[in-house]
Amino acid sequence: MKLKKGQKLIANISNLNIKGFGIAKLYQGSKTYNIAVDGAFPGDLVECQVYKSKKLYAEARVLHFLKYSRDRVEPNNDYAGISGATPLETLAYPKQLVYKQAEVIRILNNLNLKSVINPIIGMEDPWFYRNKMQYSFGIEADTFEFTLGLHHKMYRSKIVSVQNCNLCDPLCNKLISFTKAYFQKTNLVPYNFFDNSGLLRNLTLRFSKNTTDKMLILELSNYSNDPVVDQYFQALQATFPEITSAYLLNIIVKKGTKTQNVLTHKFGQTTLQENLHLKTQNLEFQVLPLAFFQPNTKQAQTIYQTVLDLVEPGKLALDLFCGTGTIGLFLSSLFSKVVGIELEPQAVEVAKSNALNNQLQNIEFYCGDVYKILNSKQFQQPDLVVVDPPRSGLTPKALDLIVNLAPKQLVYVSCNLKSFANNAVELTEKGYKLELVTPVDQFPHTRHLEVIAKFTRPK
Ligand SMILES: C[S@@+](CC[C@H](N)C(=O)[O-])C[C@H]1O[C@@H](n2cnc3c(N)ncnc32)[C@H](O)[C@@H]1O
Repeated sequence: MKLKKGQKLIANISNLNIKGFGIAKLYQGSKTYNIAVDGAFPGDLVECQVYKSKKLYAEARVLHFLKYSRDRVEPNNDYAGISGATPLETLAYPKQLVYKQAEVIRILNNLNLKSVINPIIGMEDPWFYRNKMQYSFGIEADTFEFTLGLHHKMYRSKIVSVQNCNLCDPLCNKLISFTKAYFQKTNLVPYNFFDNSGLLRNLTLRFSKNTTDKMLILELSNYSNDPVVDQYFQALQATFPEITSAYLLNIIVKKGTKTQNVLTHKFGQTTLQENLHLKTQNLEFQVLPLAFFQPNTKQAQTIYQTVLDLVEPGKLALDLFCGTGTIGLFLSSLFSKVVGIELEPQAVEVAKSNALNNQLQNIEFYCGDVYKILNSKQFQQPDLVVVDPPRSGLTPKALDLIVNLAPKQLVYVSCNLKSFANNAVELTEKGYKLELVTPVDQFPHTRHLEVIAKFTRPK
C-alpha cells in the first residue's frame, strides 16, 4: 500500500540519495518504505509531510527538525535552502564527498558493474569555483516584486533574489545589483515562458579563472532595438571597466519553428580566454558565448589530467562531444591524429582557432551530430575514443557506431551517473570491460558529480 499524500511522519534520516534528499526507512508490518525528505541530511530527526507517494517510496517535506545532524554547517549563500542551486551547502563538505562516493559505488554495484572505483577527487576550497553563472529575471517568490536571481526550488517560475552568491567571483554580486536596479527603473518586464510575453530573460556571466577576462551576456526575447537596452550596455561599460566582453542574445521563440538565437556583440573582445594548466601542458582556449566550457576551471583541469593519465598513446583518437576542443587538444601530443566532433557551430569555430593558437596541427573538427558524422564518414579503427556526452548520455545508435569502430580504449567522461551506468551496462554487454572509475566533484554543494571511466576491449 502507498503512503498517503499529506500524511505526517517522524523520519530518522540515515542516508542521502542522488537527488540530495535525506533518506529514512519506515517499517510498517512486513513492508519497508524509503522516505526521501527534501532538505534533511543523515543524522537529522524530522517531522515531515508526504507530498509524493509511490509503492514503498515517498517524498516528503520537513515540517520541524526534532534533532539536527552534527554534520550540518552554516549556509554561505543567502539563497541556501530556498533556491535549488546548492541543496547540499549546509552539509559539511567532507560529508558531501562521502555520500557522493557512496552513490557511485551503490549505482555501479546495483547494475553489477565490476570495476576499480577510485576515491572521489574533491576541491580544496569548495567556494567561488564557478566560471559561469546564469541569473534569471522574474518575480520574487516572497514579495512578488521584479528581481534578478535564481529559480525557487519549489516554484520554478518564481525567483529568489541574490545579493551574496559565493559560488563565483564576488563581482557577480555587483553586476546583479547594478543590472536589477537599472531594469527596475524601466518599463521592461521579465519574460514569461507560459505565453511568450515580456523581454528580460537571463544575465549570464562567464569569468575566466586563469586570466582576467570577463564576459557578460544579457539574454532577451521579443527584442527589437530598444534604446533602453543600448543605454544599459553604455552604463555597464562606464561602470565596470573589468568587463572585457559584452553580448546581447535575443532568443526568438515562435510556435511551430525552431528557437533561434541571435547574438549581437556590444563591446570589448569577441571571445573570452581561459587557460588550462595540466601537469605537462598549458593550453589557451577562446570561448564564445554559446560554446560549452566546463563551468569549474580547477576541476576541469583535474578531469582532463585524469583522462590523460588513463590513456595509452597511439595513432588515432576521436574526441566525441568535444565542445571547444579541450580534451582533443590535450590529447594531440599523444596521438598522430585527433578528430573532434561537436554539434554547436560556435564551439567548433573556437575549437579550430584554439588548435591554431596553440600551434597544434594534427587535429581536425567536424560540426554536427556525433551519430550522423560517425555514420557518414569512414574512420579507421581508432586507438582511443573519448566521449563526453550531454546529461542524457549516448543514444543506442551512437553507442553502436562507437562499438563498431572497435577502439582498444574508450574513455567516458560523464556528468550524469545514471545515464553513464546504463551506457556502461550496454558497453560491457557488447564486449568492453569497465576497468576504472574516478569520480570528480565538479559542483560542490550540489548533487551533481562527474565520473571519468576507462573501458578496454579485450583482444
Ligand atoms: C558535456 S559537454 C562536453 C564538452 C567538452 N568535452 C568539454 O570538456 O568542454 C557536451 C558537448 O556535447 C555537445 N553535443 C550535445 N549533443 C551532441 C550531439 N548529438 N552531437 C555532437 N555534439 C553534441 C554539446 O554542444 C556540448 O558541447
